[in-house]
Amino acid sequence: MASQIQLRAARERDMELLRDLRNEPSVRKASLQTAVIPQAEHQRWYQKALASPKTAIYIVLGSNKSPIGFVRFQRESRWISDVSIALSKNSRGHGHGSAALKRATSKIFRRWPIKKVVARIKNSNSTSVAAFLKTGFHLVPRPKETKKNVLTLEKLREKRR
Ligand SMILES: CC(C)(COP(=O)(O)OP(=O)(O)OC[C@H]1O[C@@H](n2cnc3c(N)ncnc32)[C@H](O)[C@@H]1OP(=O)(O)O)[C@@H](O)C(=O)NCCC(=O)NCCS
Repeated sequence: MASQIQLRAARERDMELLRDLRNEPSVRKASLQTAVIPQAEHQRWYQKALASPKTAIYIVLGSNKSPIGFVRFQRESRWISDVSIALSKNSRGHGHGSAALKRATSKIFRRWPIKKVVARIKNSNSTSVAAFLKTGFHLVPRPKETKKNVLTLEKLREKRR
């Protein structure tokens, strides 16, 4: 069955949900920064993120409308945004990750006048690479500053016909 996920903007009360997801061991392992994020540091980051025009966080809702993950965009420049995604462990492998990425990326191209969205993914994270490739991202040559074990994938804004 096709994924039935929905997205909504993150709110103040999603703070703990995001911290729990971010600190879940497999999500930490997949992250470029693997340390556990302490509560106070997360709180400072989250409040700044919610107020910032350069950050957009979408909560992914499962078929019963309860939160199962997040997609976060961080604008790096006028034309480029970084993206990251995490789903709770028992929601993975059902197509929800690729469905959420597809929807969230369309949303961000409508919201911000950026030209591309970039994901940096550890090369050991084959599920994540597959999810991004499935939603129109493609692999780009490794920029000089990127670590050897990290792949860069990007999705360009579609040209209007
Ligand atoms: C990465 C993540 C968001 C993907 O979401 P998901 O819902 O599990 O992925 P999907 O079910 O949409 O699968 C996408 C593709 O990945 C592959 N895949 C899915 N589960 C897999 C598994 N267990 N092993 C290997 N490949 C797998 C398949 O090719 C699949 O495509 P298909 O359904 O057409 O066969 C999710 O696994 C996750 O939250 N992981 C932990 C955090 C993380 O790694 N974040 C990415 C860092 S940016």
